[in-house]
Amino acid sequence: MTHVFYRSPSRSYPMVSHASGVYLWDTEGKRYLDGSSGALVVNVGHGRTEVVQAMAQQAQRVAFAHTMRFTSQAQERLGALLAERLEPERYYTYLVSGGSEATETAIKLARQYHLERGDERRTKIMSRWASYHGNTLGALAASGHLARRRPYSPLFAHQTFVHFDVPVAQAHAGPCSCLDSVQARIQQEDPRSIAALIIEVVGGSALSGFVPHAGYLKGLEDICRQHGILLIVDEVMTGMGRTGSWWAHTTEGLRPDLMTLAKGLSSGYSPLGAVVAHETVWRTVAEGTGSFAHGFTYGGNPVSAAAANAVIEIMEQEHLVANAKAQGERLHQGLLALAAQSPLISQVRGRGLMQGVVLQSLPGEPGTVATRLGQDAFSHGLIVYPGSGSPDRLDGDHLLIGPPLSIRPHEVDELLEGFAASVQRVAQTLGMS
Ligand SMILES: Cc1ncc(COP(=O)(O)O)c(C=O)c1O
Repeated sequence: MTHVFYRSPSRSYPMVSHASGVYLWDTEGKRYLDGSSGALVVNVGHGRTEVVQAMAQQAQRVAFAHTMRFTSQAQERLGALLAERLEPERYYTYLVSGGSEATETAIKLARQYHLERGDERRTKIMSRWASYHGNTLGALAASGHLARRRPYSPLFAHQTFVHFDVPVAQAHAGPCSCLDSVQARIQQEDPRSIAALIIEVVGGSALSGFVPHAGYLKGLEDICRQHGILLIVDEVMTGMGRTGSWWAHTTEGLRPDLMTLAKGLSSGYSPLGAVVAHETVWRTVAEGTGSFAHGFTYGGNPVSAAAANAVIEIMEQEHLVANAKAQGERLHQGLLALAAQSPLISQVRGRGLMQGVVLQSLPGEPGTVATRLGQDAFSHGLIVYPGSGSPDRLDGDHLLIGPPLSIRPHEVDELLEGFAASVQRVAQTLGMS
């Protein structure tokens, strides 16, 4: 008998007991290899005493002080650590409690930036289909995740949120035609009505591991600059070393006006998200009304900030960004070898320790193969992150593999072995082996 409202109330869940490194254990003593760091969250791995101690020390000193009245050393330090990692540009960090809050905050900050400049016309937010930016109503309206949008889309401010296509089908017609279609969409809406464009650098839950072709994202940035549209780069999943560099956008040569972070920022030790604003945005607000008309009670929480500071320290000491790149390559090669043997896998894609596996779907049953594979793996002690949806439709099956960045080579091999066994079992039951 429970009084908890589970994510799926019809299901029962194992009771988690404890965790260490890349493993979790339930109260029955069963061990799970966390091949997806939860939902690509636990970048430094489980059970890190240094993070727990930093949080405890902060909580002991002061656990809460409202940001309307105070700043804290932990928040100041985190702002400085993030700014250092974004040099030579100057960025300022606004702390919130998760990725969806970060998206909402970025949208509102973009709106205020334009208002500060006396431009009241800019009310629209552009984003890509098959994207995911969060589950609150604004963030979900900005997302292009059809399955997650479906029940709630009647609640959206439809005139505000404008979507454009994934650069997949158009890519075959040459690298520029997909950018042309974004330009056309902007012209259709009126470029002066658009406040911001939000984009993931590598596809997350809506398009596991999808990397657009070279130059595409830079092209999007150029279009934004041309029309005075702010570029919001969503690094909630890709940031904090996940793709083998501190930020995925630097690989593309981007200079975002706003960047959203969460997940790996605190590595799951405490709820935390952030909007990191380029100094042009910060200065416009600072020298305009002087106050961002926004705020959450738990924004800037010192205990969460202390967790993030300890996470960054670990990442530097243990060279986890470089490890993400090296182990990501090992994982990618292993998955490619598996794909070559299994008709169930149609594509392997991604960057660093954010690897997407695209699966053959059952006709008329989107997501079923990914879900089954996820369940089979879980029942055998391996956690992966199943997804569904394709660039232009609801159908399609894929999953993300994204273990902690602290994973060691023999653990990558164990993950690959467990995944290969699941793929074989599921393929067999579907008659696809
Ligand atoms: C790219 C991206 N943005 C935003 C979010 C929303 O973050 P949260 O679940 O912390 O609200 C997610 C969550 O999966 C995400 O992957």
